[in-house]
Amino acid sequence: MDEAFERRTECRVCLARELVEFLDLGEIPPANGFIDTPDVDESSFPLVVSVCENCKHVQLAYTVDRELLFSEYHYFSSRSAPIEDHFERYAEDVEQTYLDDTDDLVVEIGSNDGVLLQFFEGYDRLGIEPAENVAAVAQDRGIPTKTDFFSESVAEETYAEHGAADVIMANNVVGHIDDLQSLMRGVDTLLSDDGTFVIEVPYFVELYNGNEFDTVYHEHISYFSMQSFVALAERHDMVIGDVQRVPVHGGSVRIHMQRSSTAQRAQLVDDLLSLERAMGLDQVETYHSFAAEIEEYRTQIRSLLHELADDDATVVGYGAPAKGNILLNYCDIGTDVIDFIIDTTPAKQGTYTPGTNIPVRPPDALDEADVDYVFLLAWNYRDAILKKEADLRETTPFVIPIPHLDIV
Ligand code: TMP
Ligand code: ZN
Repeated sequence: MDEAFERRTECRVCLARELVEFLDLGEIPPANGFIDTPDVDESSFPLVVSVCENCKHVQLAYTVDRELLFSEYHYFSSRSAPIEDHFERYAEDVEQTYLDDTDDLVVEIGSNDGVLLQFFEGYDRLGIEPAENVAAVAQDRGIPTKTDFFSESVAEETYAEHGAADVIMANNVVGHIDDLQSLMRGVDTLLSDDGTFVIEVPYFVELYNGNEFDTVYHEHISYFSMQSFVALAERHDMVIGDVQRVPVHGGSVRIHMQRSSTAQRAQLVDDLLSLERAMGLDQVETYHSFAAEIEEYRTQIRSLLHELADDDATVVGYGAPAKGNILLNYCDIGTDVIDFIIDTTPAKQGTYTPGTNIPVRPPDALDEADVDYVFLLAWNYRDAILKKEADLRETTPFVIPIPHLDIV
């Protein structure tokens, strides 16, 4: 890519040139681009969502150069305890269903700091992770990790070195891949004949039902529905042999793709296709109405927080997830409203949020501040956080933006 970003003209799933833009979140910096000092020049890129008229795959209208987004990554999966528990159960499930021999090869695309592969000790395992700082953490834990973006050529290299993979997993990464055709060809190269490609991604139906517009960010190029997964699988002679809905990242699906020569489509796939049709997700008009609702919702969130600021309330953000940065930028909430944000991730502490330049501090910063309201940016951990912060809640209301604007 010559430019830092590029307009997409073909659907990433079905290659039709029928992309219709429906939601424009504005020009904003990358959501993970925490900065070391405030008020520096930050690059902003258009964040616009399209739907394909042909296969109804929802995707970004522009792709930002991935080197800009992923060469250094601040997201360490293992730093979130609920996520680590989730992966432990996930690993047990995959192991029981698909693995029986310690020679079996398990590959993970976008393996982050090894949070999932750590639970496959004893098997032949390999992580493929492009962010050097994150891959280094996995290697230090003894998890073999190739520092690269997964592609057809990396798949060929891996096949030559390790043989065919019995399971390939990709968690919260398939949505980050611009070239889905190369991904699928790579999987075809590396996967054994009766192997399984397990994909976990946020489910578009949840984004739609839960107003989760803040999960739209530059790194997150695709927003999968069952319609789009079926179109992608069919194009590459695969079927979805199993699917589960999983309660992480605001509601995800775990898709088990297998070669169509060895497996059959699961009943739940048809059920979810029916559900999507019943919601109108097979009609472009539905996406335009959704965008209009999000714009109205933005006005509500913005007004509430600016009213609190006008009353001189001290508002502190809770959690600095990437999605929080989209919400803050889109709803135009900066240091005029929020004094600082607390986050448990050491790599984020001492930095400033991209675009809005709000300082990120360790959780104990709360003890020294006289806080009137907490604004829960990490709303996907609502239950865990509200429980953990029972003492604080006795004196301080929590404002929760998503799925509905709520003060508890
Ligand atoms: P995630 O939704 O991408 O996992 O990000 C959640 C962010 O919120 C992450 O930076 C860690 C932070 N966080 C806290 O600061 N305190 C908490 O109790 C939890 C659960 C998360
Ligand atoms: Zn398409």
